[in-house]
Amino acid sequence: MSTVVAIDGPAGAGKSTVARLVAERLDYSYINTGSLYRALAYAAKASGIAFDKVTPEFLSGCHLEFRGADLYLNGVKLDAELRQPECARGASIISAQSFVRDFLMPVQRNAAAGQWIVMEGRDIGTVVFPDAEKKFFVTASAEERARRRMAQGNEVAAGATFESILADIRSRDERDMNRAIAPLKQADDAVLIDTTGLSIAEVVDRITALC
Ligand code: DC
Repeated sequence: MSTVVAIDGPAGAGKSTVARLVAERLDYSYINTGSLYRALAYAAKASGIAFDKVTPEFLSGCHLEFRGADLYLNGVKLDAELRQPECARGASIISAQSFVRDFLMPVQRNAAAGQWIVMEGRDIGTVVFPDAEKKFFVTASAEERARRRMAQGNEVAAGATFESILADIRSRDERDMNRAIAPLKQADDAVLIDTTGLSIAEVVDRITALC
């Protein structure tokens, strides 16, 4: 048995910061499922495999496991390397494959087993935990997300401009929302939180109040 608060939404909406703070406030565990897709992108890149050429055989050599909120790939903890823009782009491409999503499903469900947990991603409330106790869809306009990313210098490639960051966000939205399997979309029973013009503290207050 687990108690799940699902937080889904597009890239750059501030989900990770918000989800981590909500988990702290509620004294729940926290899992960022995007890191699983990023870890596979990282592994593919390290092996010289193109993101769209990953195979089930390749995945069978990737053992992914959460220890608390930390993610380990074949026993090695991954952290800063997952935040490289290339891993984000690769994760978005790799995640469109159904065998990849099937491979990661038990990792996500096992990570939540027996826990009170805040889990963030794209399809947590729709596919991974359709019976989650609480579901939130956290979003903001693409321009606002690009502005925040630019201001924080978070996942920004060297020489990036506001326009290139906005284009990158739009192409990830396009891929994540239009893939055939488990696309990014708001669950029917999720609470929509548009964070455009809201501070992080306001978003965290709103979500914890509803939990
Ligand atoms: O949340 P993030 O930016 O770390 O996610 C990186 C990519 O992984 C995202 O563009 C799509 C994919 N992803 C997914 O398909 N399903 C999830 N539950 C989480 C992430």
